[in-house]
Amino acid sequence: MKTFAILNGPNLDRLGKREPEIYGRATLADLERALRAEFEARVRLEFFQSNHEGALIDRIAAWADAKVDGLVLNGGAFTHTSVALRDSLAGAKLPAVEVHLSNLYQREEFRHRSLTAPLCLGVITGLGFEGYHAAVRFLLQRG
Ligand code: DQA
Repeated sequence: MKTFAILNGPNLDRLGKREPEIYGRATLADLERALRAEFEARVRLEFFQSNHEGALIDRIAAWADAKVDGLVLNGGAFTHTSVALRDSLAGAKLPAVEVHLSNLYQREEFRHRSLTAPLCLGVITGLGFEGYHAAVRFLLQRG
């Protein structure tokens, strides 16, 4: 069975409490449950969230060394700022899909730029949790 990694960056541990008008009322645990419920028969899912840039980078390197089969990445605010996160993706060479819960293009201009998107196969933005489901489906059907 394949293994896909789901990486969530800073403040995504606060889902459900944080700006619910933007991110909704469901929690990160709800997301994990929903993804496992849809996909557990077809793919092994590994989840990691951190508020710390270095911890995210260490985890991407560990997943690269473990040769996981795909990565779904929501880098949170580091998406827009972190050359280090971008470099870790470039080094990992994992098939990756970038996901954002909110529609970045309806928001502040500083969110319109992603440093990590060029290292990903595609980007899904604005579809809430469905973005993660669609990303996993895409990676599965991609083979
Ligand atoms: C986010 C969008 C980012 O701009 C923001 O910093 C986040 C969440 C999203 O999922 O919509 O923390 O990645």
